[in-house]
Amino acid sequence: MSLTTETPTAHSDAQRLLHHMARRSHVAPKRLVVPGPDNGQLTLIFSAAAHAPDHGRIQPWRFIMVPEHRRADLGEAFVRALLQRDPQASLEQRDAARDKAFRAPCLVVAVLSDAPSEPPVPRAEKLVSLGCALQNMLLVTQTLNLGSGLTSGQAMNAPALRELLALSPHEEAICFLNLGTVASHKPARPRAEASAFVSSL
Ligand SMILES: Cc1cc2nc3c(=O)[nH]c(=O)nc-3n(C[C@H](O)[C@H](O)[C@H](O)COP(=O)(O)O)c2cc1C
Repeated sequence: MSLTTETPTAHSDAQRLLHHMARRSHVAPKRLVVPGPDNGQLTLIFSAAAHAPDHGRIQPWRFIMVPEHRRADLGEAFVRALLQRDPQASLEQRDAARDKAFRAPCLVVAVLSDAPSEPPVPRAEKLVSLGCALQNMLLVTQTLNLGSGLTSGQAMNAPALRELLALSPHEEAICFLNLGTVASHKPARPRAEASAFVSSL
């Protein structure tokens, strides 16, 4: 008796999924335009996050949306963070920092929670869980024919941004998730063959 769990369609399903993954690539926020995801699409994207593995079921992450009417506040936080790093920043540099808050039509902050948990779970595992949640979200976004890009930067955990996001001491802003319609595509980047990163004992 065969112990295989592969159904007749499993292999082609997996190939289709892989093909689908291959269509995703990072889209810079300036190339993401309206329309962004509507409420129904956002529900699907956030539901995908909930399927991430989560050692100890401790829910070590959350997401904060930055709606249109709060982008100016985010821009000011970016400027404050810049001035804290460089009090001599020019007007041009301050404008560039502020502008970053206004790019993609849908902007979400990914937050890691490293609170003491029961069972205790290392921070690295919590970060892996958040990474899985993000990838699930990127793939569902791709399936919806929308584009996505992750961004970060020196302002990520500056006091001004932490204050705006009302992060607690055990929380850390990891990156922004930018979503929208892709205005222009870039050529796909080459991917490593599995043999480049898989070995055997
Ligand atoms: C946590 C995280 C933060 C990132 N921050 C930035 C960023 O600030 N700017 C940027 O251009 N790309 C950023 N990226 C996206 C990577 O540059 C991008 O994924 C990489 O170039 C590989 O391209 P791909 O996503 O198309 O495979 C980030 C990715 C991750 C996982």
